[in-house]
Amino acid sequence: MGASAGQMVVCCGSAYANPLVRHAKQVLGKEVACSWTPIGIDCRQRAAGAQLVLVGPGVSDVEPVNLAAALVKDARSNVGRDFRVVLVVNELTGSLASRAHAAGVEQVATMEGLPSVLSEVASTPEPPGSLPAALSADIVEKPAMKAVRSGGNGRVVSIVGGRGGVGKSTISLLLALAAQRLGISTLLIDLDLQFGDLAYLLDLEASHTVAEAVGVGLDEAGSPTVSSAPPLLDLVQTVAGEVSFLAAPGLPELGDLIVGRVGDLCARACSAFSMTVLNLGSTWGDVHAEALEASDLALFVMDQRGTSVEACRQASALARRLGMPGARCSYLVNRCGQRGGVTGLDASLALGGAHVYELPDGGRAVDDLVGAGCPGQLFEQENPLAQGVLDLARRLAGMLGVEPLRDSGENTARRRITGRGARR
Ligand SMILES: Nc1ncnc2c1ncn2[C@@H]1O[C@H](COP(=O)(O)OP(=O)(O)O)[C@@H](O)[C@H]1O
Ligand SMILES: [Mg+2]
Repeated sequence: MGASAGQMVVCCGSAYANPLVRHAKQVLGKEVACSWTPIGIDCRQRAAGAQLVLVGPGVSDVEPVNLAAALVKDARSNVGRDFRVVLVVNELTGSLASRAHAAGVEQVATMEGLPSVLSEVASTPEPPGSLPAALSADIVEKPAMKAVRSGGNGRVVSIVGGRGGVGKSTISLLLALAAQRLGISTLLIDLDLQFGDLAYLLDLEASHTVAEAVGVGLDEAGSPTVSSAPPLLDLVQTVAGEVSFLAAPGLPELGDLIVGRVGDLCARACSAFSMTVLNLGSTWGDVHAEALEASDLALFVMDQRGTSVEACRQASALARRLGMPGARCSYLVNRCGQRGGVTGLDASLALGGAHVYELPDGGRAVDDLVGAGCPGQLFEQENPLAQGVLDLARRLAGMLGVEPLRDSGENTARRRITGRGARR
């Protein structure tokens, strides 16, 4: 890692803040841009644009060794934006060293040993694809996008959660509709491979499925078949008169064959659409890992029940272990405040201070209008849920840097109805 102007070092921890920065500058060069934060979550966001992260003692929200371990995972999953992580400790005991090693943290140093560890880091070649220079401060504000994706510039949002019935399918549908209404060309994919119900919810008689889109099916004898994937746009149909859609396979036994092909499907979707919304099931499996890897953002959905928050906390921790950086996770409490249940603040506290969006209950109209195949009416009727989702879509689009194709606010949704099974 040669010391070039614009390189960025992030230091985390309340102890040793100045010495960490001083050492980094001494070894790597005075022109190196250093930033410091005592907060682990903040550090992980900043790390997305860094080349070296030093984690010292006194991180406010997490144990430093756990933060370092999370950063190592973030670095690995942050394709093309790899960064080095050094854990700086007061005293290097055998148990700490083995804990760090087990967590994948290779560089551990005491304050005295830091200069030599930094020199070693400085003399090893830069990881491929490191950010070259001139990192602006606003990188802190934005989630770390997937840096490499074959295909187009579209963004992928996964709607996930740890419990059934929290509103994942409903929010996926309404978010896709809202994004489309904001002028963002959007594809909704029901990736609940087990019991995906969006086609059912929308009362569609027949729909092209994810299985067809990846070239997987069953022959007449009921044996699985694999063929080359057809062009995506030949299969995608417009539902509710507005949004492009691929239904769940409806054949849970095809799940194993679809897994492994989701990344490619998302890449193709990103070539054709500005945004792709993936609706995932509550039972976590390989498809979740693959979807998260392809996603720019995972939106974790909870509802007013405390158990859904706990399930979400566990799902979110699992996502981190699967390599999803914290900066690409967002949280949402659906039907907020209903029956005096969980609020966004409660959920935020349970999730270690993460920002949590809130969506209100939309009443009976939600079931009625979705089931009647006209969820767009919820926007026309200014249903509070639809209004909330519209606001959420605006924020997510801003966060993801998705440009609307036309002015927002107007009911400019396409009225074209295409494809087999689109009834309305
Ligand atoms: N904010 C809301 N207001 C009113 N009804 C909602 C809301 N969110 C979800 N629902 C309803 O709750 C039920 C479960 O939602 P669903 O999206 O199927 O959950 P999941 O996909 O997480 O299992 C559906 O009948 C849906 O219409
Ligand atoms: Mg669902």
